[in-house]
Amino acid sequence: MKTIGVLTSGGDAPGMNAAVRSIVRSAESKGMTVKGVMRGYNGLIENNIVDLDIRSVSDIIQRGGTALFTARCPKFKTEEGIREAIESCKANGIEGLVVIGGDGSFRGARDLSLGGIPCIGIPGTIDNDIASTEYTIGFDTAMNTVVEMVDKLRDTACSHDRCSVVEVMGHGAGDLALMCGLAVGATSIVVPEKEYDSAKIIEKIHATQKRGRNHFIVIVSEGLCDVRELAKEIETATGIESRATILGHIQRGGSPTLRDRVVASKMGYAAVELLSRGIGNRVIALKDNKIVDYDIFEALNMPKTFDEETYLLADTISS
Ligand code: ADP
Ligand code: F6P
Repeated sequence: MKTIGVLTSGGDAPGMNAAVRSIVRSAESKGMTVKGVMRGYNGLIENNIVDLDIRSVSDIIQRGGTALFTARCPKFKTEEGIREAIESCKANGIEGLVVIGGDGSFRGARDLSLGGIPCIGIPGTIDNDIASTEYTIGFDTAMNTVVEMVDKLRDTACSHDRCSVVEVMGHGAGDLALMCGLAVGATSIVVPEKEYDSAKIIEKIHATQKRGRNHFIVIVSEGLCDVRELAKEIETATGIESRATILGHIQRGGSPTLRDRVVASKMGYAAVELLSRGIGNRVIALKDNKIVDYDIFEALNMPKTFDEETYLLADTISS
């Protein structure tokens, strides 16, 4: 393989740039050239493709977001969209493609691989919601952002003897809520993997209140309830003034942490290594903290597990 493409797709994540940089430089070291496909699969369909070289990826390792831009591309889910994308790869001499994104983007990579363009998926999303990997690029930065924000909320909740109800992202996975909830010392962590029960949250607040606590943090994974309503319910039931905060897209921004830069660099290298050997239809993953790869079909069918042990630990020490 002489020429490969790279694109970022779905929600952006800090560390995507570090992965692109690694892909371009690893490929050059193997005598391959790299084309950057702009705005996810849209770039293939619209022929928005640029040449990348060692210098064009200078000064991006420390930047959040994605220099290749990203998008959600509904047309790519249609037969016509896939056909146009395959034609575009051929017209641009793209013999293999690295797709950095989440499960949805991997489904697109699977379809392109089936159409004769070998693809390698790299997990990039702040949600850590991909079953085939222990870790997704962007998760560490997002966790640290949430912790920084919630520490600030704690200052004011503590000063006013209040309860702060904080919604974090997660896209149906409780990983971000769980890890951040543990790290900020939340009284209660609400995740999609457990049944939503506001009575239990209130009960927990009551119990910790009896032990002398007078400010509370409740971390809620998005999509489970209206956090403003939950804050009102807590206030009514406990008499503790409560405020709701939705952290929102701030969680997706910022300079990637060391972990995200390192994992992204390693995954980028591994993806190029596979393509350079003519191997496609694989996704890169982290298993036991080592870089591995799986068949895309196999990866997409893996069940997502939830870290019950950490959930129990967080619940036990949150008094
Ligand atoms: P993520 O990759 O973060 O899960 P999305 O689910 O939004 O994000 O998917 C990103 C893009 O991947 C979509 O806009 C679409 O172009 C492509 N995609 C998603 N699902 C599929 C699918 N089932 N088949 C083909 N392409 C898909
Ligand atoms: O997948 C990343 C993510 O930020 C999810 O946590 C969230 O559910 C979703 O994307 C938000 O998407 P949008 O960018 O469309 O608001």
